[in-house]
Order: sequence, then C-alpha cells, then structure tokens
Amino acid sequence: MTDLPFPDTLRVDARDKVRGKALFAADDGRREILHAALAVATIGRGRILTLDTRAASALPGVQLVLTHDALSDVKSAGFLMAGGYGFQSLQPMLSPAIAYRGQPIALVVADTLEAAIEGAALVSATYATDPFSVTLDAAGAETVNQADTPLKKFIHEVVAGDADKAFAEASVTVDAQFFSPPQHQNPIELIATVAEWNDGKLTIREGTQSAEAIRHGLATALGLTPDRVEVISPFAGGGFGQKNSLQMQTVLVAVAARRLHRPVKLVVPRAQIFHDASFRPASRHRVRLGADRSGRMVAAIHEVDAQTSRHDLFPAEYAAVSSRLHGIENFRGHERLVRTDVQTPGYMRAPFEHAACFAMECAVDELAYSLDHDPVALRLANDTTIDSISKQPFSSRHLAECLQRGAVRFGWSKRPMAPRSMRADDGTFIGWGVAAGAYPGLIVPTIARLKVTDDGGVFISVGGHEMGQGIRTALAAALGGKLGVSPDRVVAVVGDTRVAPQHLTAGSWGTASVVPTVAEAADAMLKALAELAPRGSANQSPAQILKAAGQPSLEVEVRKKAPGQPDGIYDRLAAGLPSIAGPVFSDFVTFSYIAHFVEVRIEPGTRRVRVPRVVSVADCGRVISPRTATSQVRGGVVWGIGATLREASEVDPRYGGFLNADLAEYVVPVNADIGSIEVEFIDKPDPKFNSAGVKGLGEVSMVGVAAAIANAVFHATGSRLRELPIRIEHLLD
Ligand code: MOS
Repeated sequence: MTDLPFPDTLRVDARDKVRGKALFAADDGRREILHAALAVATIGRGRILTLDTRAASALPGVQLVLTHDALSDVKSAGFLMAGGYGFQSLQPMLSPAIAYRGQPIALVVADTLEAAIEGAALVSATYATDPFSVTLDAAGAETVNQADTPLKKFIHEVVAGDADKAFAEASVTVDAQFFSPPQHQNPIELIATVAEWNDGKLTIREGTQSAEAIRHGLATALGLTPDRVEVISPFAGGGFGQKNSLQMQTVLVAVAARRLHRPVKLVVPRAQIFHDASFRPASRHRVRLGADRSGRMVAAIHEVDAQTSRHDLFPAEYAAVSSRLHGIENFRGHERLVRTDVQTPGYMRAPFEHAACFAMECAVDELAYSLDHDPVALRLANDTTIDSISKQPFSSRHLAECLQRGAVRFGWSKRPMAPRSMRADDGTFIGWGVAAGAYPGLIVPTIARLKVTDDGGVFISVGGHEMGQGIRTALAAALGGKLGVSPDRVVAVVGDTRVAPQHLTAGSWGTASVVPTVAEAADAMLKALAELAPRGSANQSPAQILKAAGQPSLEVEVRKKAPGQPDGIYDRLAAGLPSIAGPVFSDFVTFSYIAHFVEVRIEPGTRRVRVPRVVSVADCGRVISPRTATSQVRGGVVWGIGATLREASEVDPRYGGFLNADLAEYVVPVNADIGSIEVEFIDKPDPKFNSAGVKGLGEVSMVGVAAAIANAVFHATGSRLRELPIRIEHLLD
C-alpha cells in the first residue's frame, strides 16, 4: 500500500450528530433507569468522622445511599501508570480517608434526578482535618526526583553529550524560567455512566477513550472475570485525555445497579469533574540554552518540576519532546515530581509537549534576539536528520519545510526584527511570532474484523474510540479507497469490547494504528474476493463478486502491531493494558512536527490581546482525511490560544480544590476570540513508521502555539512573559 487515493471524505457521522441521532451514554432515556448524584468532601485533606445519611435516605424517591461503610467488597482497580486501570490508585468511598477537596463521600440513587441531587445535598459529614498543600511551592509539597522513583523503569532521563560543560563554554546563553498552570479539559460531554446487570453480566455505557480499561478495571474492582463485563462507547463527546481510564464513578454506579436490580445512570456535574477526573498538572521549567556566535545551538538544559498527587506518581515526560525540536548535541533533561493534595493529574491534549515547547520555544526566541538572528532562520540553521538523543535517524522530519512554507504563507519576510516596531494606525501594537512543535510518533496493536455483504455493505469492527476526532471518517476513507466503495457505505463499530479488543485511544496514535490495520484487512479481503472470482475481480465490486459466487458475505480478521513489538503484546491488548510503542524504535525515531506563525494585536490602553491570524503547517506524514485533519489543527490552535491567554484552574491554598470549577469562570476562547486559522500539510508519507505512512496529528496541533503567541507578544510590546496564561495585568506598564 503506497499510493492510494483517499477521497476528501465528508464526516461520516456528521448528519447523525447534528440531528441528535448519535446517542451518547447519558442519552439512554429508558424509563426504568434510576438516577444518581454524588456528595463530596468539603475539606482539603483528612478523614470522615461521622457521615449522616438519614435525611437523604428518608427523602421520597431515594432508593439507596451508598457510603464507604457498604463497600468493603470493592477494591481499587489500581493506577493506569502503575499497572492498573484507574486514572488514579485512589478509588473514593472505600475508606473514610479524604485525600483532596471534592472527593466523593456518598452516592445517592433515586427515581428521579431531582431526588438524587436533593438527597446528595442532604448527606452531612464531620471530619478530622489534616494540613494540605495544593501548589508547587506550598510548605508540605514533597519534591522527588523522577529518576529515583519506580517510574525509572520505563522513563529515562533524556541526556546526550555534556550539556553543562557545553553551556558553561557557550558564547551566547539564555537562562529563563517558565510556568504553566494547572488546567482542566472541559469536553462538552460530561463524564457519565449507565450501568446495568443482566443474568450476572454487567454492561456499561460510558463515553470513554478506553473501553477495555473500564472493563478490566471493573473486573478487578468487583472481583469478576472480565467475560462478565462489556463496555459500549460508540461516541465520546470529547476526550482530550480526560476519559483515558477507569473513572472514579463507574465502579460506584455498577455497585448501585447491582444492589437495586435496576440500571443506574450518573452524569457527573462539571464542578465535580474538576475535582474527580484528571487534569493538566502545574509545571515549572528552567531552560538554559547555549549557542556559538554563528547561531549553532550547542547546549540545552531543561529542568522541570511537575505536579502530581500525594497518592500517585504521574510521570513527567517534558524533555522527551523539547530534546527533539532542534539538533542540539548536548542535552540534559531533568524531571522532578511535586506531590500535592489533589486528585492524580493526567494526560490532557499534548500533556507534556504543550508546556515543554512553550518553555523551549520561548527560550529559542530569546536566543534569536541575543544573537540578532531571525527566529525562523535560527531554527532552520539548527535542523537535523538525526535524533541527538538516540543517535538514530528520524523516520521522517519535515520541520524545516513547515517553517519555510509557513513563513511564505504568513508573509514573515516583511517582519522587522525589533520589538515594538509594528503599530496600526490607531496605535494598536502588532507582533508576529513563530514557534515549532513536536509530538512523539506512537503505535499500538490493533485487531480489525472486516466483513462485506452481497448487498454492498462494508462492516469494520476495530479497536479504537470515536471522540470527535473522526476515526470513523478516517476508516471510511481508507476502506472506501481500497475496496472501491463509497465511504458512506462503510459501517464502523468502535469503542465496543464485544467486537474487538479496545486499546486506549490517546497519544495521537489512533490513525497511525488503525488505518494500516484496516488497510491490511482490505488487502486480505481483496485477496479473498479474487479467489472467489474465477474470471478476475478487477472490475467488479465486492458485492458483485459475492453475488456471482452465491455467497452472502465474507469476513477477514487482521491483527497488527508496531515495529519491534513481541507477539505477547496482543495479550496485553486483550488485558486492557497500555501497549504503546515509540517514538524510539530499533532503527529509527518518529515525531510529528508543526510550525505556527501568529499575529497578535494589543490595544495600547487596555492591553487586551487579540489573535487575528494564525498560519500552521504540519508534518503528520500522509493525511488520510483532509477534512477532519484540518479540523484537528484548527481545534488545536484554538486550544493553544485558550491555554495561552485564558485557561488556568485557580487554587486557594487555604481551602484546596479548584475554585473556578465551571465554564463561566474557567475561561475558554469563544468564537469572537478566534480569527483566521490557515492550515497546511506537508503530506509526505512516512512509510518507515507504518505501511500507511501516517503520523499523529491531534496533539501536535496545539504544541508550540503558546510560544508563538508569547513570542508575538514580545515582538509587539518588548515584554517577555514567561508565565501562562498571559493576562492583561502582565502587560500593563
Ligand atoms: Mo491524549 S492527552 O494522549 O488522550
């Protein structure tokens, strides 16, 4: 498979979505469903002394009030990054201990949602409180070197050459600190579970990125064999890493449904999601860069303090990407984890890359100004084809072309170097900034079952999840092109543990894992069809061949893993465990790249920052579905604008928890905040990485946007702002 035409397929589920026909988990409106609501802890840390559920239980309509007293037969499913299935190791309501503000203390189930909510409000508790810490700098926050923790088994410090020596000897240096705040992804679909039991079998409907983790996590937590649990997730209304694993509520809802012999639904309100699902941890970065006078970067040191919870170590992998942006021979990354009293943070779109490239690419801009070199030219002069960390070649790397094409499209050559040198007629400050982004190339094992029928049907069942990114559209484009059928005839079943093992869909590996597998399934199908058609199948559709052969349908199954993965990887896949390969493979290294060019306009009086224009050029290997790919990049840029100018989860050290836990106060960009976003793709296949030549795109889209904006703000105003989000008050003289 090298050069197939993939048509610019329309979003195959677009019509269903706009007509409300795409059913999400919480859309299950059967009358027999009971409704649940959570009561949560109001202290920052401590222990429940008394829990009074009498008023809640007495409320008309309330069927059950579940507390830790009644859950002794349940155990934690463990933490995803420590061999388990949960977003954290701590399963709330298994003991009276309270690890963070907002931790659930009771689940109230009632005939109506109203009664459940009222019942939850009637649950009252008394507590013994302990001191707690919720910021990186708090007295009780405990800092550990990641390399000294059990994480060292799979996360290594990123080191090449002797960065400290090269930095000390460099003729031009930069040494700067950057800060990225805690942030929460806010998918429009709230986290929701519908649980029901039939003949001892548990069925879960939940929007998720990992149906298999929910399945095996529930089996572990409830002491069931996995064959007694099925998880169905045809759609998730946005995931962004928040729906990566077993959530805290799924087990509780399943227990309630078992006790009540009725299906139970819980939709977790947004304010509770801020406290009981993962989030982007706070991180502080110190970047040191050294260059010679010609502008060759000779040293980089990237040190990071990243927030984790008291009970888990959420890994930090910032230097893994900052070290792959440019060809710098001497690099030293160092990551420390800071334990605080919050729920365990997790993966949020470009989890490390966003903050890491903000720090690194702002520092590169500072270096460009120290050298008086154009920031695009400086990056081009430090391009490489070899990964300086592993000393292996990149399977593909077109960052230079991204920068060159973006510069032309943006009109970069007209940019004067000096800050504050561009003003509009009304005095508005104008600034132009650039930054690069990168994201690791990752692949997971995938099993696909493809069936064609004599009435023209094409059915693909595969491991993968649809969370709005368009996996069904990519599948339809790939299969339609291969089988010569219209993409809208392709029916794709994803996110369903009944049809194929469902590996976690995250890390921008979805298309690169699924498309090569289904393309191979299509090849296997074409071969099987050719065997059915004695006079050749070249001009016949699959349906015509089946009809002529008198066969109603034909099915093939294909399994595919990443280069270098052992056969045993399929056992891990079937067990719902992460089975990820990359970005370093045995003889190459894969990253996706992007270059962002940004114009900011800053009102001289109010210092309000606007972003009227962005040009983004991405190297994601071959583009399978131009429509959804373009949409991915636009979404990534919009999020980048939000992450740079709006979003921060505010904490109050006196109380713990997150203060702005709703969409009114957790400010995200609205339509009026977004101007023109032009997207271009290099679209050169990477056949070493996989047979379809596809690299990831979803996350690299937002990587570097923050730095490009901050660099543009510097160009507009002369102010270096190294703390996100950049706000009006930081720009007032
Ligand atoms: Mo993504 S943050 O790897 O779901």
